[in-house]
Order: sequence, then C-alpha cells, then structure tokens
Amino acid sequence: MRSARRQYLLESALMTNPLHTFQAWLDDAKRHGVHEPTAMALGTVDEHNHPSVRMVLLKHADEQGFVFYTNTESPKAMDLDHCPFASLCFYWNPPGRQVRVNGRVELVSIEEADAYFNSRPYLSRIGARASRQSQPLDGYAELERAVASEMLRYPRGHVPRPKNWTGYRVIPQMIELWKERPFRLHERLQYTRTGNHWTEQELFP
Ligand SMILES: Cc1cc2nc3c(=O)[nH]c(=O)nc-3n(C[C@H](O)[C@H](O)[C@H](O)COP(=O)(O)O)c2cc1C
Repeated sequence: MRSARRQYLLESALMTNPLHTFQAWLDDAKRHGVHEPTAMALGTVDEHNHPSVRMVLLKHADEQGFVFYTNTESPKAMDLDHCPFASLCFYWNPPGRQVRVNGRVELVSIEEADAYFNSRPYLSRIGARASRQSQPLDGYAELERAVASEMLRYPRGHVPRPKNWTGYRVIPQMIELWKERPFRLHERLQYTRTGNHWTEQELFP
C-alpha cells in the first residue's frame, strides 16, 4: 500500500525502482536547462579515514551502477584503492531535486573503458594522456608542452587510452531522492537494496 505522501513525491510516476526515477529526474533537469546536469559530487575516504569531495561527470547509469572516468593515480583513485566505497550527490535547481547514492566501487571492464575513451574528442583523449592529474604543475606552460608532445606522438587517428585512465562504477546500495518543498518541509525517500530488491523509507526533512 503506497502512502499518499509517496505518491505525491513521485507524482504520477509510481516507480518502485529508484534508478528509473533517477533517469526521469535527470531528463527533467536537462529539460529545465540545468548546466552540467550530469555533474555529481564524489566523496571518498583516504587511509587516515579523512574524507574528500570533488565534482566528476556521470558518463553512464543503469542497473549496474553510476560510471565516471578519471586518472587511476589521482588522489580520488588512491582513496578508492584503499576504501572501495563512495558517495555521490546530484543537485538540480530548478527543479529543486537532490539524489544521493552510496555504494561499493568497481573498475569498469577494459572494453568499456576503451569504448568510452575512443568516443571522446581528439583533444580530450590527448589531454587524458598529457595530464598527471593532481600532481604539482610548474606553470600552465608545462601542461601545454605535455599536450603538444602527445599531439606530435599521435598527430591524428588512434590515440591509445593511457594505462592510468579508466572508469569507476558506483554500485548503488542506497539511493535517496529529495524534492524541494516550501518552508524547507522537503520530501525525502530513501531506498536500500538487498539483492535486486529495493526497500523504501520516507524520512523527515
Ligand atoms: C563540473 C566538473 C566536472 C568534473 N569532471 C571530472 C571527471 O569526470 N573526472 C575527473 O577526473 N575530474 C573531473 N573534474 C575535476 C575534479 O573535480 C578534480 O579536480 C580532479 O579529478 C582531481 O581530483 P582528486 O585530486 O581528488 O583526485 C571535474 C570538475 C568539475 C568542476
């Protein structure tokens, strides 16, 4: 039996799978013209249990999880090596919605990483090769020299995916949908997963 409140939260779309609602909300954010609607905060924890958060772009989402790409030698990747759990947070305004996702993290397959890398524009592929992400940089010219050197090496056509660049998939164990309401009396619906089954729970704002 669904509560009237839950029906209100999800409006006419009575979806029991929060991933379906996520897709509908992401489409809505795009329709509202949200800048970078796939941008999400990614929280990780290092070996001293210190958290870090930064933005990354969602490149794929389905039943398997939420995929982003990065440098495997970056601090976030070091964190994930140590503690393969992450927290994601999307915020779209308008329409005033937040989605939080927590879960275990896995690397995508080599085939998936290659396919996505090869779909990127030439200069993005060159940039991924040239950037030693989060390492000290001796002025922007050093980056420009690294880019020029990769362009000389791969003037056109195939640019191989560097070994230190791949995708990470956050496999959702918890998804929370948050909808803005007047006077900060927001609506929240938290889902937790057991196998393929999602259990839902409304929360106080
Ligand atoms: C909107 C936005 C999207 C970003 N997308 C990515 C991304 O998809 N992958 C990535 O490695 N860094 C991305 N960045 C840069 C990261 O926020 C961060 O600066 C970088 O990955 C280094 O993080 P780390 O030192 O914690 O590893 C993005 C930044 C912004 C503002």
